[in-house]
Amino acid sequence: MDDLKAKYLGQIADAADESALETIRVTAVGKKGEVALKMRELGKMTPEERQVAGPALNALKDEINSAIVAKRAGLADAALDERLRTEWLDVTLPARQRGHGQGTMHPVSQVTEELTAIFAEMGFAVAEGPRIDTDWYNFDALNIPSHHPARAEMDTFYMSRADGDNRAPNVLRTHTSPVQIRTMEAKGAPLRIICPGGVYRADYDQTHTPMFHQVEGLALDRDISMANLKWTLEEFFSAFFEIDVKTRFRASHFPFTEPSAEVDIQCSWVDGQLRIGEGDGWMEVLGSGMVHPSVIAAGGIDPEEWQGFAFGMGIDRIAMLKYGIPDLRAFFDSDLRWLRHYGFASLDMPNLHGGLSR
Ligand code: DAH
Repeated sequence: MDDLKAKYLGQIADAADESALETIRVTAVGKKGEVALKMRELGKMTPEERQVAGPALNALKDEINSAIVAKRAGLADAALDERLRTEWLDVTLPARQRGHGQGTMHPVSQVTEELTAIFAEMGFAVAEGPRIDTDWYNFDALNIPSHHPARAEMDTFYMSRADGDNRAPNVLRTHTSPVQIRTMEAKGAPLRIICPGGVYRADYDQTHTPMFHQVEGLALDRDISMANLKWTLEEFFSAFFEIDVKTRFRASHFPFTEPSAEVDIQCSWVDGQLRIGEGDGWMEVLGSGMVHPSVIAAGGIDPEEWQGFAFGMGIDRIAMLKYGIPDLRAFFDSDLRWLRHYGFASLDMPNLHGGLSR
């Protein structure tokens, strides 16, 4: 009995891990273990011998079991110590930079949000149309027939269609004006919309890129005049640049408006720096006019009953003016350094009460 005890307690003390301990448990005190075999021998003993051997074997079994439990706890503690020793955290290391992999809002997106907030306040809803459109929506419906010089001047990107279906969309829209027609068709009059979006022309220099952005405006009602147009635009520019901005309307010509006006905003050049809303210089920012009756009719609306104004303005251009960005081409280079410099906080949405400038 003493030999058994010495053998197993020794093995338990030396067990290196949980599984070695389990093997010992099975061979020592398991159902077919050595102690169990000894217990079976009790039957062959005399009652006197049994009275001594029985309790002694039970005591041995208990002792081995508690030695195993104690050793198991010891092994777990040692394992935890080992983990704590190897899995350490250096709390004195500098923290990881916040916002490092965080993107920014592109100036075009930012300015689109800003102008949408301003026009929304004046009751204009946002309308959208496809960037690949038909000749009809992009030109004919806007009073630009195929022989018209404006078609040639637009530097249009045409798409050739392999299937030869010439009623299918085939031009990258050269302006947002086709959205006027689509919205008139879909909604009828009265109407007050702005249509921001990308447009395309084959042109490339410091102030022109083959894809850029415009916002179209259209207001139709029974009694709308140039005066409403002027007020709306002056209101817009003052809200957008957050300073009283004078406007100048110059007579012009567009096929889709009659009369037509180009609009300049007041500006000055001081030390090579452009300042909007001061001085006696003028900067052209948009085209506008009273919607031509043929255009209203093309939109499925009776021009005898409804009239209105429209305008078209370059979003990239007013973004450059407001935020002092010198080169339009950089807008589309996806240079991360440029985006971090000119970009805006992504969750900081512009609105009239929270402020429009950043
Ligand atoms: N569609 C014109 C362009 O892209 C801009 C324009 C001028 C839009 C006058 C209008 C407008 O709605 O009335 O150059």
